[in-house]
Amino acid sequence: MSEPFRQMLRALPDFPERLPDFDPDSAPADPAELFRLWLDEALAAGVPQPNACSLATADGQGRPSSRMLILKDIDADGWHFATSRESRKGQELAANPHAALNFFWQQQGRQVRVAGDVVELSAEASAADWQARPGADGSENENTDWQLYAIRPREIEFWQARHDRRHIRHRYAPR
Ligand SMILES: Cc1cc2nc3c(=O)[nH]c(=O)nc-3n(C[C@H](O)[C@H](O)[C@H](O)COP(=O)(O)O)c2cc1C
Repeated sequence: MSEPFRQMLRALPDFPERLPDFDPDSAPADPAELFRLWLDEALAAGVPQPNACSLATADGQGRPSSRMLILKDIDADGWHFATSRESRKGQELAANPHAALNFFWQQQGRQVRVAGDVVELSAEASAADWQARPGADGSENENTDWQLYAIRPREIEFWQARHDRRHIRHRYAPR
């Protein structure tokens, strides 16, 4: 692209002046607990849709793709998300059941990365998720392709930006 475009990209502001502190030494042992804490702090800081994240998948040849979606829950099965089994990501997960999530909360200079194996949750749980979507009118679930999945984390990394560039990375390897 043109030189002015390059310069414009480089001159864009990054993180706000005030960034939260993060001390990995006092972080909870359970990454889900830390995520809940950070999510509450993101909400308090006015981050819009902090439950939105990118989901990266790859096809059978290892060619990656990513898109945004909504985190639905975290429990013993893993980190839940839902989509159509017929979608590109649904087909990629059928061929290659591994994925990565990435949350980015700009106002706080925070990123949370999750990667692991993906399992399909039950048809009942998938139907309940379909019904619970905003705007659902309570009618029968006509979308039989709708599937609730869980990523069972192999690794989770909490990242906190710092203005001195000594960014903090706190990693969990649950399995
Ligand atoms: C903030 C945001 C949240 C989204 N949430 C979901 C979601 O929870 N499930 C879903 O299937 N698509 C969701 N989408 C749409 C996906 O990003 C994507 O366009 C769609 O699922 C098709 O993706 P695919 O062709 O790669 O399978 C969301 C998009 C945005 C921008």
